[in-house]
Amino acid sequence: MREPVIEEIMVQADDLKRRVRELGEEISQDYEGRELLLVCVLKGAVFFLADLMRQISSPCEVDFMAVSSYGSATDSSGVVRILKDLDRSIEDLDVLIVEDIVDSGLTLQYLMRNLGARNPRSLEVVALLTKPERRKVQLEPKYVGFEIPDRFAIGYGLDHAERYRNLPYVAALAT
Ligand code: PRP
Ligand code: MN
Ligand code: MG
Repeated sequence: MREPVIEEIMVQADDLKRRVRELGEEISQDYEGRELLLVCVLKGAVFFLADLMRQISSPCEVDFMAVSSYGSATDSSGVVRILKDLDRSIEDLDVLIVEDIVDSGLTLQYLMRNLGARNPRSLEVVALLTKPERRKVQLEPKYVGFEIPDRFAIGYGLDHAERYRNLPYVAALAT
C-alpha cells in the first residue's frame, strides 16, 4: 500500500487557534450562570475539546463518550455503537456535545437521540468542522468552526487509520 501523503493544508494552525478562541467566548456568554457539561466524543474531538475548554471562562465540566462508525476505513459504515458511555447522569444538565467533524451526520444523529432521551436541560453541539456536502441526515450543529469541502481531512484530531491526529493543522489527504 502506498503511504498516504498530505496534499494541501485546509485550515492553518493559526486559524484554528483564532476560531477556537471565538467559539469559547461565544459559549462562555451563552452558558453564563448555567451548569455546562461538555461531552467529548472520543477520539477525534479530544484535541479540540482540550483547546476549547481552556477558552471557556464560565464553569464547565467534561465527560467522554466513545462511539464508532468508521473504524479504520475512510468511509462511514453508518453503524454507530457505544464503546464507552458517560460516567454519570446528565439529567437536568446543560449538555454540549463536542465533535471534531460532522460528515454524514450519522454519529451526531445517534448521539442527539441517545443523550436526548436522558432528559438533559438542554442539548447542543459544537463541531470544529463540517462537510455539508456529505450530509445524509439534516442536522446542523449550533456552533461550527469551519465548513470544509468534501475531501478526506486529517489532523488536529482527525485520523486516517488512527494516524495523523497529532498534526497541528487540518489537511487534505492525497489518496
Ligand atoms: C469521525 C469523526 C466524527 C464522525 C463524523 O469519528 O471524528 O466523530 O466520524 O462522521 P459522520 O458525521 O459521518 O458520522 P470516527 O468514527 O472516525 O472515530 P474517531 O473520532 O475515533 O476517529
Ligand atoms: Mn470521531
Ligand atoms: Mg476516525
